[in-house]
Amino acid sequence: MLKVEKLYKSFGKTEVLKGVDLQIASGEIVVVVGSSGGGKTTLLRSINYLEKCHRGSIMIDGEYLLRGGVYAPKEKIKEIRRNIGLVFQGFNLFPHKSVIENLIEAPIRVLKQKPEEAKKKAEEILNFLELGDKANCYPYELSGGQKQRVAIGRALAMKPKLMCFDEPTSALDPALTGEVAKLIKSLSSEGMAMLIITHDMEFAKMVADRIVSMNQGKILEEHIYAEA
Ligand SMILES: Nc1ncnc2c1ncn2[C@@H]1O[C@H](COP(=O)(O)OP(=O)(O)OP(=O)(O)O)[C@@H](O)[C@H]1O
Ligand SMILES: [Mg+2]
Repeated sequence: MLKVEKLYKSFGKTEVLKGVDLQIASGEIVVVVGSSGGGKTTLLRSINYLEKCHRGSIMIDGEYLLRGGVYAPKEKIKEIRRNIGLVFQGFNLFPHKSVIENLIEAPIRVLKQKPEEAKKKAEEILNFLELGDKANCYPYELSGGQKQRVAIGRALAMKPKLMCFDEPTSALDPALTGEVAKLIKSLSSEGMAMLIITHDMEFAKMVADRIVSMNQGKILEEHIYAEA
């Protein structure tokens, strides 16, 4: 589902990604750990075309976003990006929109779904996330864990094939961390690939099929994590 090859990225003179290789199969959950400043967020942003890289390749669901340092045409990039969901650290929910409005905005605007259709699907997702009773609340009325689930729901509404998470549990207490882990696992069992950045090793072990560590712009070691 995702294949990153020899990816390089610099900010001015600072080289942040120094030849990253990473592959994720559909239905696979890969967790990236590593020291602060190692380039994890930059990698995730690059995969989502929020940062431009000057060397290397990024392939998503068989389509090249970036091939040998050259980006696909604009229309193709749009198409490819629709297959990717992204949940940021800090959620980035629209504060002036209700929960359900947060979920239907992109499906209507980007996927051109009819409002009634988008609303029906959003309700299904909210029920699945056990947030059915919060549809008309605003983000400020929710707990950290609830906001996190809304952010996941908003990404799910786009039906991505690859979901990317940056520090999904940083605002959660340990009980909710387990909940998010369960949710991520159940989504992957439906074939969605997951790329998760975290500093939380407990969470990483709970959720990962594979844990890789990233330091100083490179993926250093790769080891299979087999749950006992
Ligand atoms: N927009 C930017 N302009 C300049 N430098 C940047 C920019 N974004 C990131 N960097 C630098 O790139 C390096 C990697 O940052 P990145 O956010 O990818 O690290 P990280 O592994 O996600 O760290 P953390 O675990 O603390 O979140 C850092 O040295 C950072 O200062
Ligand atoms: Mg980061």
